[in-house]
Amino acid sequence: MSDYMELALKRQSTRQFADKPVEHEKLVKCVEAARLSPSGCNAQPWSFIVVEKPEVVAEVAKTTMQLGINEYIAKAKAFFVVVEEYAQLMPKIAKIVHSQYFAKGDLGAVSLSLCLEAQSQGLGTCMLGIFDRPKLRELFDIPKDKDIFIVIAVGYPSSDQVRTKDRKPLEELVRFV
Ligand SMILES: Cc1cc2nc3c(=O)[nH]c(=O)nc-3n(C[C@H](O)[C@H](O)[C@H](O)COP(=O)(O)O)c2cc1C
Repeated sequence: MSDYMELALKRQSTRQFADKPVEHEKLVKCVEAARLSPSGCNAQPWSFIVVEKPEVVAEVAKTTMQLGINEYIAKAKAFFVVVEEYAQLMPKIAKIVHSQYFAKGDLGAVSLSLCLEAQSQGLGTCMLGIFDRPKLRELFDIPKDKDIFIVIAVGYPSSDQVRTKDRKPLEELVRFV
C-alpha cells in the first residue's frame, strides 16, 4: 500500500478530541503543507486564520454549534478558518471565466491538504461547513466580500480507532475507457 493510500484511509472526521493541547509547530506545519496545494493559474485564492488561544478557540467553537449541531466541537483544541481570497487569473483565462471560477475547487484542495498534513502528524480534524458566518466575520474582522470557505476543528483524537469508510462503490464513480 502506498503511503498516500494509508493516510487517506486513516484520515477521518474526528468528533471526539482528547484533552491535550496541540503544539503550535504542528499547526504551522499544516499551513506550510497546505500552501503547496495546486490552484487554477496558481492564484492561491486562500488565507488561513489559525485559532489556538483557548479563549478564541472557545469563541469559534460557539459559532459552529448553532442549530444544536456540532456540539462535540466544544472539545476541539484549535481551528483553521479558511478564507477565500481574490484570485488573479492569467489574462487569457480571465477573458473567458470569472476570477473566482476555480476558487472553490482550489479551496477544497487546500482544505484537504490541511487535514492530511494534520493526520500525518497524528492530529484529528473535522471540516465544518455549518457555522454562524456573520459572527465569525465579526470575530476576525473578515470583510463581507470574502467568503469563509470552511472551519476545520483540530485536536488529538481521543481514540485511535479507524472507522471503515462509507463510500459509493468504485463502479458507480468511474468509467475506464
Ligand atoms: C464541506 C464539508 C462540510 C462538512 N461539515 C460538517 C459539519 O458541519 N459537521 C460534521 O460533523 N461534519 C462535517 N463534515 C464532515 C463529513 O460529514 C465527513 O467528511 C463525511 O461524512 C465523510 O466522513 P469522514 O470524513 O469520516 O471520512 C463536513 C465535510 C465537508 C467536506
